[in-house]
Amino acid sequence: MGKVSVSLLSSDFGYLADACRMVNGSRAWSLHLDVMDGVFVPNISYGFPVIEAIARNAEKPMDAHLMTVEPSRYYQQYKDLGIEWLTVHYETCPHLNRDLQEIRRLGMKAGIALNPSTPVSVLEQAVHYADLVLIMSVNPGFGGQVFLKETYKKIQQLCLLRKEQHLGFMIQVDGGVNDTNSDELYRAGADILVAGNYVFSAKEPLAAINAIM
Ligand code: DX5
Ligand code: ZN
Repeated sequence: MGKVSVSLLSSDFGYLADACRMVNGSRAWSLHLDVMDGVFVPNISYGFPVIEAIARNAEKPMDAHLMTVEPSRYYQQYKDLGIEWLTVHYETCPHLNRDLQEIRRLGMKAGIALNPSTPVSVLEQAVHYADLVLIMSVNPGFGGQVFLKETYKKIQQLCLLRKEQHLGFMIQVDGGVNDTNSDELYRAGADILVAGNYVFSAKEPLAAINAIM
């Protein structure tokens, strides 16, 4: 059985507290918060005041996925808001090792996210400092996109890298996850699946979460 992280991006933002309560009462592992700045990705989602409101209603651990340039300017604020897992994009961090060490020093778990066009091989040096690697299975910026099949191979390559280097980071997959690809993703080696649109467009979100665990 795998772990599910529910992305609030596709929820109705007029009823965020209700979405949080649904996740609180579910078997999901965490609440996935997608922060977009309109610079690294062609969309803007939400920032600190909204995360603060989510945090007031969340009982699951919060896992933040930063699709923002210069993320290190704000690590302390994420910590103060109660974020437990903080994931930054490889493509936004020229000094990635330093970023990951800083996130850990602040007492959070550190994650690295990779765009679909970025190969797993770039992680060889930095992955020692990571508690999680997030493989994007769509181009970041929007919920509800179609899953990219190249993802399976990247998960397998990452599993191999983890084994060769005797490491214990978790493998998270994000984008286009649903009940037609979840089993194969776990079989390929994914530990955590992020799901947004699939959960929030379902008639029964709790059943949808169970269906991809
Ligand atoms: C996309 C975000 C995802 C998104 C996944 O840039 O990182 O977390 O919410 O959404 P679905 O599950 O709708 O593809
Ligand atoms: Zn995400």
